[in-house]
Amino acid sequence: MMIPRPPPPSLRVALRAGWSSIVVSPSSCIPATHRAHSSSPTTYPALVYDKYGRHDEILKVAHLPLPPVSATTVNVKFLASPINPADINQLQGTYPLKPPFNPTIGGAIGGNEGVAEVISVGDGVRGIHVGDWVIPVASGSGTWRTHAQYEAEDVLKLESEGVSKIIAATISVNPSTAYRMLKDFDNLQPGDVVIQNGANSGVGQSVIQLAKAWGFRTVNIVRQRPDLDELKHQLHALGADMVITEEDARRTDVAAQVKQLGPPPRLALNCVGGKSATNMVRLLGHDAHLVTYGGMSKEPVTLPTSAFIFKNLSAHGFWMTRWYDAHSHDDQRARMLSALLALARTARLREPWHDLNSFRAEDPVDRLRELAVTAIDKAGRGFGSRKQIFEFE
Ligand SMILES: NC(=O)c1ccc[n+]([C@@H]2O[C@H](COP(=O)([O-])OP(=O)(O)OC[C@H]3O[C@@H](n4cnc5c(N)ncnc54)[C@H](OP(=O)(O)O)[C@@H]3O)[C@@H](O)[C@H]2O)c1
Repeated sequence: MMIPRPPPPSLRVALRAGWSSIVVSPSSCIPATHRAHSSSPTTYPALVYDKYGRHDEILKVAHLPLPPVSATTVNVKFLASPINPADINQLQGTYPLKPPFNPTIGGAIGGNEGVAEVISVGDGVRGIHVGDWVIPVASGSGTWRTHAQYEAEDVLKLESEGVSKIIAATISVNPSTAYRMLKDFDNLQPGDVVIQNGANSGVGQSVIQLAKAWGFRTVNIVRQRPDLDELKHQLHALGADMVITEEDARRTDVAAQVKQLGPPPRLALNCVGGKSATNMVRLLGHDAHLVTYGGMSKEPVTLPTSAFIFKNLSAHGFWMTRWYDAHSHDDQRARMLSALLALARTARLREPWHDLNSFRAEDPVDRLRELAVTAIDKAGRGFGSRKQIFEFE
């Protein structure tokens, strides 16, 4: 008899606008009766949308009820949640993961990742305690809110000692994407060379640091800008070996410098598309992999035919959500998280460059809305280089 597989986490989230989970705590057998409970507020503010469009036209602040915990749920207080490009695309309706509009909350809640502190635990919950830091298992439940109630199986407990809330809030998208792309497409060895565009992005910063930690060299492509020298300095400080502009990437002398860095590059990470991807591919050696994970230029990826025929190029796409869905039943996620947190504890993975936007539950609705619109404006602006993060107080 066929046993039906449970739906992947992102689909479960979409179906019930909740979370699903892997609990990795070693304390999973401590009886619930040994744990303290703390009180929760009865309502909380959330950033909600009930149609797709521009954030300044569709985003509202709603005060939603926070019921007492049931046997299987936990109540949490969010500490911080970033604004990622995908979150903005989700508001615009152009992102494939679309949380359903739920009439009881007046739509869907924005945001796909963040870190929260547990403030109340149901009697039947094992392995999660008041004071623990948790992250949502899957995208799509809405993290732009001060509080939430989740099924305990829909959150993942973090071993948060020595880790900042900014690292914890941003770990499941950008550093995880960088980790997977560096590990899963080629068997890179110390000394190997990786090329990436959008190198100053959150993912790009993670790629540089993970590559440095693992002994890979990086060629980092950024857009020309007035403060280019400062940006180069910042990227070198993270561990970048070469930082070049999109225009440099077409120069033969720069191609010669790339050749000096090590063996011909076998991995290129593309979050821009268009000519940027084409130029990057020209710097690759034989049997290389191009991994496209974003399309910031909104231009199609155009690749030279010769790269496929004569250099045996392989082109791939990567989506972290798909990887999480595929690996919801094994321990690879826990191992990746543990490795990333270990790098963060030893300052080899630092917080992304960021601005904090203080979202206080007691502030008037108009102020919260204005704060959110301004923060999303900044997040969506080119040449910004700083992740906008809601800090909940
Ligand atoms: N597939 C996945 O699973 C996955 C996971 C994480 C992220 N992503 C994607 O990866 C990309 C970066 O995400 P992030 O969170 O790291 O972003 P981020 O920190 O907000 O950085 C955005 C990056 O995009 C660049 N950019 C903005 N507009 C551009 C344009 N018109 N042309 C070229 N570059 C432009 C920025 O460079 P400037 O400073 O020059 O503007 C910056 O490097 C996004 O497309 C995101 O959706 C995908």
